[in-house]
Amino acid sequence: MKKDLLNVSGLNAADLISILDHAGRIKAWHKEGREYTPLKGKTLGMIFYKSSTRTRLSFEVGMYQLGGLAIFLSNRDIQLGRGETEEDTAKIMSRYLDGIMVRTFSQESVEAFARTAAIPVINGLTDLLHPCQILSDLFTIKEKKGGCEGVRIAYIGDGNNIANSWIDAALRVPIHLRLACPQGYDPDRGFLARGEKEAAAKVELFRDPSEAADGADVLYTDVWTSMGQEAEKDARAEAFRNFQINRRIVEQARKDAIVMHCLPAHRGEEITSEVIDGPRSVVLDQAENRLHVQKAVMDILMGGKEK
Ligand code: CP
Ligand code: NVA
Repeated sequence: MKKDLLNVSGLNAADLISILDHAGRIKAWHKEGREYTPLKGKTLGMIFYKSSTRTRLSFEVGMYQLGGLAIFLSNRDIQLGRGETEEDTAKIMSRYLDGIMVRTFSQESVEAFARTAAIPVINGLTDLLHPCQILSDLFTIKEKKGGCEGVRIAYIGDGNNIANSWIDAALRVPIHLRLACPQGYDPDRGFLARGEKEAAAKVELFRDPSEAADGADVLYTDVWTSMGQEAEKDARAEAFRNFQINRRIVEQARKDAIVMHCLPAHRGEEITSEVIDGPRSVVLDQAENRLHVQKAVMDILMGGKEK
């Protein structure tokens, strides 16, 4: 049966381990200059309704390195953007392609693709979730901290797709997730309720960023205004004023804490330049790891790797 990647909690423990382990192998082979082309002859279609630097690059370069082809499909150019349904598009794409990646607004839209397509569908970010990012971040944390179990992650900022995805991941991975969001900008209520009740370890929500940062192994943030929310930019700038990773917040965390950001960053807003360019920051490795993890995901879902 085909497998999709719509969220992290949809993966079972074996899938998760297999993606992270395989990404480690793929990264090592890449660094050795060893060719690994299991997706020769395969094609991925990538539908983008929103801008992207890392996601597009990691899928497109990753597919090329795996021996396959990735096709960039902007909503401005394909018929989906002119009213062809997700279902019809998914059926047609299934006749040409071996996998589909979708970056769009509604999670329901990606799920409609997954229900209809005969080929694997990968969520490349919705307003609700960004599972590829969080899988890759788990890989980075494993690399930097030796594992994810019991790692204390302070997420400071908007209760957006990244925050929701961290909660979703916490259902499967025993991380200790401490979120700090201003009132009115909490993560998705359903995810939060599940996280607080069913987390593999612990999910907690704070209003004070320094409380969340206290003793953290990982400090994590994301933009105050996500794609699609541009009209709210000024109100958000006001609401998030104190939700910034800066020197003071870094001092609250453990001495060996790392600083992460999914990027793009808005310097001087959710994070200072001093911190993002400082010695604790791992954001460049974090961004690079998107490539290795994306390759593992495509290899596993699109049939290159024996399961
Ligand atoms: N982190 C991330 O998904 O970046 P892009 O929006 O550039 O793809
Ligand atoms: N929360 C951000 C993440 C970008 C990768 C957004 O949705 O714009």
